[in-house]
Amino acid sequence: MKRLFDIDPWKIKTKQLDNENKRLQESLTSLGNGYMGMRGNFEESYSGDTHIGTYLAGVWYPDKTRVGWWKIGYPEYFGKVINATQLIPVDIYVDEHKVDLAVDTVKDFSINLDMKQGILYRQFVWYQGETEILFHFKRYVSIVRKELAVIEISAEVLTGEAEIRFEPKLDGDVENEDSNYEEKFWLGIDQGVGEKSYLTTKTVDNPFGIEQFTVTTMMQTLKSEGYQEYKQEGHHLLVSESFSYNMKAGETAKLSKLVSVITSRDIEPAKQKETAAAVLNSAIEAGVEKVEKEHIEAWADRWHKADVKIEGDDESQQGIRFNIFQLFSTYYGEDSRLNIGPKGFTGEKYGGATYWDTEAYILPMYLSVADEEVARQLIEYRYQQLPGAYHNAKQQGLKGALYPMVTFNGIECHNEWEITFEEIHRNGTIAYAIYNYTNYTGNDEYLLNQGIDVLMAISRFWADRVHYSKRNEAYMIHGVTGPNEYENNINNNWYTNTMATWTLRYTLETLEKLSPAKQEELKVTEDEKKVWQDIVNQMYYPYDEELGVFVQHDGFLDKDLRDTSTLDPEERPINQHWSWDKILRSPFIKQADVLQGFYYLNHEFSLEEKERNFAFYEPMTVHESSLSASIHSVLAAELGKQEKAFEMYARTARLDLDNYNNDTEDGLHITSMSGGWLAIVQGFAGMRTAFDTLSFRPFCPQNWQQYTFKVKYRERLLDINVTKEAVSITLQEGESLSLLLYDEKIQLTDTISRPIQKQEKNTAL
Ligand code: BGC
Repeated sequence: MKRLFDIDPWKIKTKQLDNENKRLQESLTSLGNGYMGMRGNFEESYSGDTHIGTYLAGVWYPDKTRVGWWKIGYPEYFGKVINATQLIPVDIYVDEHKVDLAVDTVKDFSINLDMKQGILYRQFVWYQGETEILFHFKRYVSIVRKELAVIEISAEVLTGEAEIRFEPKLDGDVENEDSNYEEKFWLGIDQGVGEKSYLTTKTVDNPFGIEQFTVTTMMQTLKSEGYQEYKQEGHHLLVSESFSYNMKAGETAKLSKLVSVITSRDIEPAKQKETAAAVLNSAIEAGVEKVEKEHIEAWADRWHKADVKIEGDDESQQGIRFNIFQLFSTYYGEDSRLNIGPKGFTGEKYGGATYWDTEAYILPMYLSVADEEVARQLIEYRYQQLPGAYHNAKQQGLKGALYPMVTFNGIECHNEWEITFEEIHRNGTIAYAIYNYTNYTGNDEYLLNQGIDVLMAISRFWADRVHYSKRNEAYMIHGVTGPNEYENNINNNWYTNTMATWTLRYTLETLEKLSPAKQEELKVTEDEKKVWQDIVNQMYYPYDEELGVFVQHDGFLDKDLRDTSTLDPEERPINQHWSWDKILRSPFIKQADVLQGFYYLNHEFSLEEKERNFAFYEPMTVHESSLSASIHSVLAAELGKQEKAFEMYARTARLDLDNYNNDTEDGLHITSMSGGWLAIVQGFAGMRTAFDTLSFRPFCPQNWQQYTFKVKYRERLLDINVTKEAVSITLQEGESLSLLLYDEKIQLTDTISRPIQKQEKNTAL
């Protein structure tokens, strides 16, 4: 655990300039607006260790696969969100000395990401000899004008005299740290300097037929009066300007750098300059103050709709707000072509594409905090990518569709065999998301028209991927990796087998509801349905009678089973200390596996089953995937294990703020940013939606006084407040609704309140 920033309900702030942990600080102060974003790099030059990163949504490159030993079926490339032209740089010189916080002496340093406003502030006093200069920095990416980034800098001479020079730049000479062949992905194709300086770059050619992206970035600098010298330069991948000021004590130089970013995803290259200029003109016409004000107001509106308020514990409050802030900065549902990459705009690891994470962890939150169209868009994204999923199954010599572990376009681009070929449980989650959406919204139109195409394709995959074991007279699935990636090539992962038959069941049920025309279109035969039903009836699920638990996979119980308290704390996280084979042989579980199944199919298991399996698996779980803690928090809460639920809340909500897994310097864990919300809403408040019924079973964690959140449910907006004594639910929008509170059936028309029930376990399912 490492905490760099102070506790504050709305701010990520510190007075420490921590050069040792610069990358971590950069990740935690990342900004984004769904269209573009960047790590918290400094505007001025920095010669120390840093990870410079600017990313544009949907702008990616297929990096040719690099493996030691090629295996048939591997994808040809790994798709990466690529580091793009740096928008923020402004080199600063004081009397020809380049200001560089890696080596210079400064005092009164502070950095402050204001989540309420969506603005990053920084300041420091630079000094040398008699001269002291106070620098202020402000930056944001507008959530109102998506193509616009604003950087404002001021320099006030406190003592002495100085010549200060600002050099705003657009720098396209960037690379990905994770480039497979150490190649650069961009070519400079045009540039120009003037009142508006611009740089146009294009992704280099690729042999895979993937679109090349062209991006124009354009800057306009609004400078304070009093500069003595002004220069502009441009070449190949860089354009820069230069403003020099001769200043005495008491004088201040100011600069606002407005940058617009236009990509060929929206605007054809020939029109990009004109569009980029129009974005800048419109902002300048409105005035920088108005542009900032509207951005702050738009964030206020987002907070008004989705804030979770916690009283009594600022650590928890900061955690959940950081989660919401970073998630909304990555994706707010405005562009149906996009999805939510594990690192968003905050780093390169994981390629930045679409993972099962979206359906498993993000969709449940967006179902409740955004308009129905946003969730619909996310599941339709997979419908659009069905051809890619068919391709992936074919690559493996299988029928039907296999959704990818990692993708931009539906085609698998992950190339570790134990994941690409074996982590097929992801297909179950894609199917489950269709159920989740349909069950939550009560709208089966998608299910019956497009969703069923996806379900059919996935079912055909499962039917081909299982095999029949004559000896056991059962169907089995061998050679898989479950959600617990700390075991590979295992047989009969309980979770995978369960999700496979669940998908077949759901598909069969859905087929019964289709119109004759749709039935006809799908060309499903009675024989095929019979085979599916047979698989459902005769699937093998590892189970241990004595322990009364579902066994993670055949052979799991033969391991040297021990809990995580036997681990040397110095050797955690184990993935940073142990050889891979030692991890694979160990009993330690990376993330919810059997318990992921209990989370999804919660209504299908008894409390006793949940209790026994939780008690068996959780103590062996190291939670070294960011996705683990939230699921455990929700289940622990249901089982009345309030302390465990709270511990897991802190772990998910503050995962990055406290760097639990010692890997946040690579970027934030964006797809687990819903974790804190799930822990509060589905965990502490016990919200469930099974059987067309919204239900709650809340408690208030011990060190909180109260918490409040909002959920959207079937065209209603509810506000829920939970104190130590009572729960109140208010219908803020929409028609009267019938719901369950604890076990009481309530018709909600305005506000209802009930005392908190201090029972041990959640039984209302
Ligand atoms: C997890 C996967 C997840 C991926 C991206 C891995 O560490 O084990 O379940 O999909 O990260 O977040």
